Amino acid sequence: MVEAENGRRWLRWPSEPERARLAFGADYNPEQWPREVWDEDVRAMRAAGVNIVALAIFSWARIQPREDVWDFDWLDEAMDLLHAHGVAVNLATATASPPPWLTTKHPEILPVDADGHTVWPGARQHWRPTSPVFRAHALRLTRALAERYGSHPALAAWHVSNELGCHNVYDYSDDAAAAFREWLRSRYGTVAELNRAWATTFWSQRYGDWAQILPPRLAASYPNPTQQLDFKRFSSDALKDHLRAESDILRELTPGIPITTNFMVMGETKGMNYADWAGEVDFVSNDHYLLTGPQAQDELSFSANLTGSLAGGRPWYLMEHSTSAVNWQPVNLAKKPGGLARDSLTHVAYGADAVCFFQWRQSAGGAEKYHSAMVPHAGEDSDVFRSVTELGATLAALAPIAGTVRRRAAAAIVFDWESWWAGELDSHPSSRLRYRQEALDWYSAFLAAGVRADVIGVADDLTGYDLLVAPILHVVPGELARRLEEYVASGGHLVTTYFSGIVDENDHVWLGGYPGALRDLLGIRIEEFGPLLDGDTVDLDIGVTGTLWTDRIDLTDPATEALAVYKTGDHAGRPAITLRRTPAGSASYVSTRLGPDGLAAVLPDLLNVSGVASELPAEVRGLVDLAVRTDGTDDYWFLTNRGDHDADLSAVSGDPLPGPSLAQHTTLTPGQVRILRRRPAG
Ligand code: GLA
Ligand code: GLA
Repeated sequence: MVEAENGRRWLRWPSEPERARLAFGADYNPEQWPREVWDEDVRAMRAAGVNIVALAIFSWARIQPREDVWDFDWLDEAMDLLHAHGVAVNLATATASPPPWLTTKHPEILPVDADGHTVWPGARQHWRPTSPVFRAHALRLTRALAERYGSHPALAAWHVSNELGCHNVYDYSDDAAAAFREWLRSRYGTVAELNRAWATTFWSQRYGDWAQILPPRLAASYPNPTQQLDFKRFSSDALKDHLRAESDILRELTPGIPITTNFMVMGETKGMNYADWAGEVDFVSNDHYLLTGPQAQDELSFSANLTGSLAGGRPWYLMEHSTSAVNWQPVNLAKKPGGLARDSLTHVAYGADAVCFFQWRQSAGGAEKYHSAMVPHAGEDSDVFRSVTELGATLAALAPIAGTVRRRAAAAIVFDWESWWAGELDSHPSSRLRYRQEALDWYSAFLAAGVRADVIGVADDLTGYDLLVAPILHVVPGELARRLEEYVASGGHLVTTYFSGIVDENDHVWLGGYPGALRDLLGIRIEEFGPLLDGDTVDLDIGVTGTLWTDRIDLTDPATEALAVYKTGDHAGRPAITLRRTPAGSASYVSTRLGPDGLAAVLPDLLNVSGVASELPAEVRGLVDLAVRTDGTDDYWFLTNRGDHDADLSAVSGDPLPGPSLAQHTTLTPGQVRILRRRPAG
């Protein structure tokens, strides 16, 4: 067993002696296929270099066909067969999708939406996170699996449930109401304190008793905003509690087996506060699907980068991505040649020590039959399977990377689930604000500048970063304001944006002028927000254009200067971007949405102020996504061509790592990846 410094564990590889390797595989659903196909599966897995699969994720109805009938024979056989062919198993607790007998007998486990509609069975994940009945059945199944397979030699890790909260994060049922009240009671202690936090004097909402409190169900107008924010916190916690309940049983029965669950750090999936969940698992796993649009590749890099931070800079497990098309976007595009390798290796660049897919063999029936897989409908004689096999050979060659950790960047983007939740609540100055998009735009600007930036959680250690960008840091409790002041006082350079520093942890506005909690640090004051209508724009004197938002800024500190001024709009002639220099550091404010291109134009000045420089030669800055892992002695530079023309890497020294998907020449074609082993200077 590989013990990390903090005692956290990685996979338990069945074969001894332990050897470093990257994990490669997929969700495997043998129960969808006749037995003879399984033999083809394990043969083809071997050919492709697959060394691990996730098993039994949606197998509850097969394992437990009736309440007191268990059928493990097929799973015993699958586990044995995989083990015999050198494929390890990350075994699901199989609790993700309750079987029809359970929902028929206990319809009270079905979620209820905000309008009071029952979420019926027929798809998957139709269970209330707070249902005691569901919990009892799920834990019974977890226990049965742990008892049966805890000492199976194929077992490398436990996979709790699946994508907790993918479809059921918000449940407004009576179970949820009861659990919400308990959660509130432990947060606030008294109803009086809750009344204060929720500002219930407004609209005659004052509560006299816990029993009067409900989830924010369909209401006549905007539900109380703090109630909404607390319900988001509670809903994330309720699923975390389920993760913990299953994990407790696994830790009790199989203390030697590491536990994980697959997060969904991607796109607009925002219900689960993964920064808060990460401490629950032995190693972090993520599912990521490439989105469409001009920033799709940057979004993948951003998500992988943030997942690396959730893992504390240590290796993590890419549990799912796709070999080619998915089935759940409006139009599902196949990946272009090279896309499979590029996407996989970008995750590895940002710390993944496992590259896995949904799923091994593409289904012939069911809702996801048009979702790509490692073995597509066309079979092994296909470009997809050839790409899969080539990737397997590449990952085998990359064994020296296994266990290496992130080399911290000089800059970071601060990501905060609470600001995401609260910043996008209703009845705000603009309903158009998008928290994650703003953060991604800054990330794209860093990529355009050729400067590495870690995407970190707001509770992470901020010290040591020369430059911190905290976009739309809307929720700033007093303690966070103090941390940011200390950061700047000790020489840090902080950049934040519109709608930051506005409220405390109860979603109460910091009074005296915006941006409330950060007003003095930034040396500015704003009396009224100036959101823009769709299509309206404002020009800045530095040649960039803003949308979405403006602010009427007064400079309140002699050390604050305007880095850019509005040329058009209601605030023409007033500051648009400000900088307050302090004896050791600085604090900057960007008052409008500039988008990736505008931010790319603005970022170089902010980098200059902070002294953060690109590590790349000038000719490839912006063209190459650079991520760095280190084994403590050598660094591994992952260079991915993110542009649409060749990148000449001849000025970047280092020993290229071999591998069929990796560039061996100094000319990197679009989408290609080159990995260089380098001895850091000094
Ligand atoms: C999620 C699920 C998988 C599958 C994929 C399809 O990640 O965990 O079961 O549905 O989406 O993209
Ligand atoms: C109406 C209501 C007020 C207030 C305003 C806000 O006029 O009577 O209580 O909600 O709308 O615009």
